Amino acid sequence: MLTLGISAYYHDSAACLLSDGLVLGAAQEERFTRRKYDAALPVNAVRYCLEQAGATIADVDRLAFYEVPRHKRARQEWQAARRTEGPAVRVTAQDTEARLRDGLQWTGDIHFVDHHRAHAASAYYVSGFDDAAVLVCDAVGEWDTTTFWHGQGPELTRLGGVRFPDSLGLFYSCVTSYLGYRPNSDEYKVMGLASYGKPVYGAILQKLLEIDADSGFTMDTRVLDFISEPEGYRANLAELLGIPARRPGGLVLPHHADIAASAQVVLESTVSALLDSLSRQRRTTDLCLAGGVALNCRANAVAFEASAFTRMFVQPAAGDAGTALGAALCAEPPETRTAAGSVMRHAYLGPRYDSDAIAELLTGAGVPFRDFRNDEQGIVNTVAGALAAGRTVGWFHGRMEFGPRALGARSILADPREEGMRDRLNSKIKWREEFRPFAPAVPEERAEEFFAMGRTSPFMIDLFRVRQPDVLGAVTHVDGTARVQTVNAAVAPRYHRLLQRFGALTGVPVLLNTSFNLSDEPVVCTPVDALRTFLRSSLDLLCLEDLLVDAASVPAELREAATEEHRFVAGAGLQQGGELYSFF
Ligand SMILES: [Fe+2]
Repeated sequence: MLTLGISAYYHDSAACLLSDGLVLGAAQEERFTRRKYDAALPVNAVRYCLEQAGATIADVDRLAFYEVPRHKRARQEWQAARRTEGPAVRVTAQDTEARLRDGLQWTGDIHFVDHHRAHAASAYYVSGFDDAAVLVCDAVGEWDTTTFWHGQGPELTRLGGVRFPDSLGLFYSCVTSYLGYRPNSDEYKVMGLASYGKPVYGAILQKLLEIDADSGFTMDTRVLDFISEPEGYRANLAELLGIPARRPGGLVLPHHADIAASAQVVLESTVSALLDSLSRQRRTTDLCLAGGVALNCRANAVAFEASAFTRMFVQPAAGDAGTALGAALCAEPPETRTAAGSVMRHAYLGPRYDSDAIAELLTGAGVPFRDFRNDEQGIVNTVAGALAAGRTVGWFHGRMEFGPRALGARSILADPREEGMRDRLNSKIKWREEFRPFAPAVPEERAEEFFAMGRTSPFMIDLFRVRQPDVLGAVTHVDGTARVQTVNAAVAPRYHRLLQRFGALTGVPVLLNTSFNLSDEPVVCTPVDALRTFLRSSLDLLCLEDLLVDAASVPAELREAATEEHRFVAGAGLQQGGELYSFF
């Protein structure tokens, strides 16, 4: 039985296909359309999922959607009626059912799943736990912004929650906006910036968010106004802080870092209080987290370590993309919802491309390459040697990751030892803010030597203290922590071998791992995306499955053409797929 889950029309649309509870494929639409956080109906992601199953839409047994449109619409209309100034609230949850039916050519029933239930399911049902407390925290679903759940066997029971307009996710987005970054997009920049500041405004911000030991929290709507103010705050926030909002693109000054640090502390203390409340309600030792706030790895780590829970699973696609998976799981019958094989050990759920097709592509485009087909150890040794010599590598291998993190399938890899590598990547390749840290990957069995772990971290969504910051200068954040990925040999064998080989050469089996994309673009999906990104960056090597391209040998005219996508794709004779899709 096939179940298709859809998240769409708000932010980071995605599709996920289950076969009797097991995930066949899951992907975000942005990866195919190259529009970051694409909110369109994910027709490309659906097409990929169906291809993965060798199925058409007619073979799908159940369709699940990640929210209940009439409830969302009621909230949007409620909000619109109360907004007296500024741009009108867009009521987007209209005609959703008709748009889904038309867009997907679907004639059967549609399971509309409560948004927070979909988030909770996306974590609990793939956690491997059979009795767990679940916290969901995001900007807003239909009405919910924070919810408590108890998962037991196939059942997921809602224990309580906080409703709009009180919202921890919107609070953090509001500070993101105040600091001149894009809300609902750049929150991770605020998290990175926070480590450079002191929480001197913590008391002021905490007063705006009152924690209630039983029910959650309430907000001071005289300052934080998520109903009427498009940015989420009124002018009196600047008076309270004594600092005006930073203009986008303006200088980042120490007091901006202090505001970020203060908002981060408030977030952490609130999540801690929510976990306390949850553990009092359910005396379980296992915890699951989901919702956009769970992408804040620092809050996850701080709150979990202070809590009574002993094990934690955070859905790697904690944002709305993950609700495509969660909604699909909710539409499954109870007996397949918790199928033993559905434990999420990795996020490699997207498309893969084989070396023969890539070789054809490179040959057609006139790109010279070294061919390591049938010689895995050869390519691993060569890439590890190049990394040890300080070269940077675009690493494209296996199925693309689901969720925002690159985990060794679509990654940029580099030597983590010298701090200078971080600056080089920031200024020449990623073109991003210098305060944003890079993360390390390490073989699971070697992780404890370099990081104070105590638990594995396969999804890079948790934070740990670096034991030897002087050895890992490029991946140690200013506060001595790192967002570690532990790599399991059975789950990602080639990536694991690469780490081992780099360790054999350098004594440090750790690599700097960052997503394979340029600033403000989605992570690459296809070999064409990877090649084009490679040509527009200063990366030294591109490893496309078993084939290795050296930047020095790429014809100059191709590199020039890569700056214009259409010219590049057409000129190189590369075809990314048609514009029109049929599901039959
Ligand atoms: Fe959400």
